[in-house]
Amino acid sequence: MAASFKLSICFLFSLFCFVYNDSTILCEVGFCRTYLHETGCTTPPIHCTVNNATHQGINLLSPTVCNCCDYCMPLYGEGEHCSRGGPGTGTTVGRCGDGLYCQQGEEDDVCVRMKSDCHTAQDKYDERERNGELGAMEARPRCDGKGKFYKFECVPAQTCFCQSDDGRRLFGEVLNLGVITEKSMHCGCSRFHDLMRSIIGKSVPAPVVGPRCTTDGNFFPIRCINNICYCVDKVTGIIEKDSPTIDLERQSITQLPCYDKDLDLFAEFDQEHPSTFQSPCLLNQERIAEEILDSEEDEFDLDYFGGFPECLPDWTYGRIAVNSAGQKVCIDERGRQIENYHADRKTDPASFNNMDCKCAQTTNIMGDLPEKPICCKNGNFRRIQCRRGMCRCVDSDGKQTEKEMADVTKLSCYTSDWKTC
Ligand SMILES: *[C@@H]1O[C@H](CO)[C@@H](O)[C@H](O)[C@H]1NC(C)=O
Repeated sequence: MAASFKLSICFLFSLFCFVYNDSTILCEVGFCRTYLHETGCTTPPIHCTVNNATHQGINLLSPTVCNCCDYCMPLYGEGEHCSRGGPGTGTTVGRCGDGLYCQQGEEDDVCVRMKSDCHTAQDKYDERERNGELGAMEARPRCDGKGKFYKFECVPAQTCFCQSDDGRRLFGEVLNLGVITEKSMHCGCSRFHDLMRSIIGKSVPAPVVGPRCTTDGNFFPIRCINNICYCVDKVTGIIEKDSPTIDLERQSITQLPCYDKDLDLFAEFDQEHPSTFQSPCLLNQERIAEEILDSEEDEFDLDYFGGFPECLPDWTYGRIAVNSAGQKVCIDERGRQIENYHADRKTDPASFNNMDCKCAQTTNIMGDLPEKPICCKNGNFRRIQCRRGMCRCVDSDGKQTEKEMADVTKLSCYTSDWKTC
């Protein structure tokens, strides 16, 4: 009895050793040197090292033992031959580049441009350019690799703002700094909120709180789960590996190394509510939700004037406020009034109802820069903007919509009261 017990332990142990050996020791340091010496690699296509307009590729792990070889997957351009793969068609050596797909042809398959709203918008732009109808301040729509709208859109010499993949403007706006904006603006948090809204929508009774965003549409660098706070990646919103943590019950949020005072819009509120990670708008929402739940328990419906106050993805109340005189005013992310933009319900109801403060926000972000757009007195974009003796029509986001003219009366958006709006 005792002997057989011992034996089985030995057996298990040796099996374990064998499996262990087999799976982890193979790709040890030095394996590839021997492998390359004995087996060798095929030369990868030049596409990855060249990476110019006609020869593009992506470096990937090679499908060889221990990924020993260099591997480059070429991306074929428009009109180039491609293989659509499928059962029994052999290995695929490359794929069509971004925005292209492999279409079956009469004799051969070739890469053709995907059909999408963004590509259609680009085609329209290109056609207007060929016809000489394009304005000097218009920008070609940008699409991503799947033919969807790019994560943000820019107005030349003004600002960039986040957009959804179907081209709707979203929360998040920064100064247009070209390459710098390209590197720093990711709009992941902004797009996450949009997705959350479309999936959860209005099907739930109380608003669902999404992750906190910064004003540029990135993720706020801190996330708290109950009272424990972590540092998160501002691009992905994922908690960083080995992130330091703090417990709000005992520590201050400012003790996290990723805390950035400039990004915190509620520093004062944080001090007054040290054990919560919230904002005045969220707290207000929470209070109203509790009142409604209480009223339901008491079996009467409390209609809270048509719903909950909505908070923006940065957890602020919004960019429009109502002052003590009952006028709407434009405010920045810290609740400070921007210039004297305002609208009065009684004296100018149209201006009051259409007020979006988009121009006020843009000019505020532009700060001291020259050639700022002109806003209406309610903070919306004036539909005609002029620069260096030429005037142009813009939409509600300040984007030029047609070719500029020296004579304003020739513009399609011209109205006799264009100056005052
Ligand atoms: C890209 O590089 C390849 C190989 O060096 C060359 O044949 C091709 O003409 C280049 N294309 C452009 C657009 O420069």
